[in-house]
Parts: sequence; C-alpha cells; structure tokens
Amino acid sequence: MIVDHLMQPLRILHLTDSHLPDATGGRVQGLDTETSLRAVLDHALSEPRAYDVVLLTGDLVEQPTPTAYALLRQQLRRVPVPCLCLPGNHDHPDLLHECLIGGNAGVESERTYGDWRILMLDSSVPGRSDGFLCEDQLERVASTIDDAPDQHLLVAVHHHPVPCGSPWMDAMMLRNGDALMDLLQSRGNGTRIVIFGHIHQAFDATVGRVRVLGAPATSCQFEPRSTSFRRSVLPPGYRWLELHPDGGFDTGVTYLGESHVLRDVPRQH
Ligand SMILES: [Fe+2]
Repeated sequence: MIVDHLMQPLRILHLTDSHLPDATGGRVQGLDTETSLRAVLDHALSEPRAYDVVLLTGDLVEQPTPTAYALLRQQLRRVPVPCLCLPGNHDHPDLLHECLIGGNAGVESERTYGDWRILMLDSSVPGRSDGFLCEDQLERVASTIDDAPDQHLLVAVHHHPVPCGSPWMDAMMLRNGDALMDLLQSRGNGTRIVIFGHIHQAFDATVGRVRVLGAPATSCQFEPRSTSFRRSVLPPGYRWLELHPDGGFDTGVTYLGESHVLRDVPRQH
C-alpha cells in the first residue's frame, strides 16, 4: 500500500509478545496477559499524540488457537489505525492470518509511508523456538533495497538478529541473523532499523549503520543478561518510534506506571 509523503513524523507503536491465553481469565506464567495487553493499549492510546500504525512482532498468543486469536482481534478492534502483525515461535502463521481477516489488523508484509518502507518478516519455524529467514524472505529485503536504494527501511521480525547477552535467549535467536544484517549493512543508502520481540526486554544497539531495537513485552519481562530463564520485576510495556521524512528517528520505551501494575501471581508449576 502506498501512502502519500508525510511531512510529519510517522508515529509507530511497537507491541510484542502478548502471549494471550486461550480464554478470558486465563493466565500465562501467572499473569493475566489479556488484561495486561488491554492496560498497555489503554496507556498507549491515551498519549497526547496519536499513533499512525501499530506493529506487533509475534508471540501474540501462548498457544495458537482460534479462540486465543479471537481475543487478539477483539483487543485490536478498538485501535483506530492499522495493526500489522507477524508471527513468532508461539504463533501459527496461517491461523493468525485467517483469524484476523476482515478487521483493522492483518498479517501484512510491507507498507510504504513517504520515504520510509516497513518490511514485516516471518522468522518462525514450525516446532522450533529459534528463528530462521528462508531465502525468499531475504530476497524480499534485497530487492526492496535494490529497487529504492535511497529509501529508509524499518525491518520488523520476531527473533533477535544479534545476541542480546542472555545465553539462554541467544540459543534461540535468529539463526541467520548475520545474513539479514549483512544485507542491511551493505546495500542502499537510507537509514536502517530492525525491531524485534522474543527477548521480553528493551534492547538498543547500533551495529555498523543499523540500529537494532528490542521492545518490552506487553506480558512479562525477562531479566537482561541472565544465564537462564529469569523473570524481571519490570511491568508490561512497549516501544514507540517516530520516523522523520529525512531518515532521522526517535525512539524509546514506556512501562506501565505504578497505577497500572497488574496483580501477578506466582508461576504455576
Ligand atoms: Fe515471547
């Protein structure tokens, strides 16, 4: 879809890893993740400046069932702008697509906003927790850049393409993240951003000319640099980005404040 050139920055709300349950009231690792996502959306949608688009980078449900995706669709219905989704290792790509047809959310692979192109990639591999970009996904990145070398590019993907510093998470990162990073480093002239989920924590690094950004989950957070699974005490959150027409951009993360902290219960073993 082509949108006319924007003179204003493009405001992006980046949500990830909502891990919605199969039914209302269900808990995932002790957290009511539907209530958590609702609280995050309430907070983001009440910001003084409205968002132009929402990007959701996978693990949208805990188990991929039609009822779990119905909860997602219901939550996104009140968002007044397009919601572009991609699958994570907890999702089923085809079912996600089917369950979102006809609403304001969908599994869309790309959009253009003025001088910025957004590419949504599918790194999910059936039955695996780590990720991989198949040849046609990498080819899409290459041809997008080659077709418009001066265009600025934001790539969204579920798995992290560079290590995040937690050995247990880095064992299930994007296995061919180097291939993606090499393409972004070596081709074209515009700004390059990669956003992702999966690691349930904020992450911000610059690798060569590529800014690499992870977002907090709308569900539970993981402790950075932990050697094994460890929950963080941080509340649910999200990342925001403002993309400027000249290729500059601003970004940051927001966590729900004290007034929004959700009642959590110990993990059920
Ligand atoms: Fe996740």
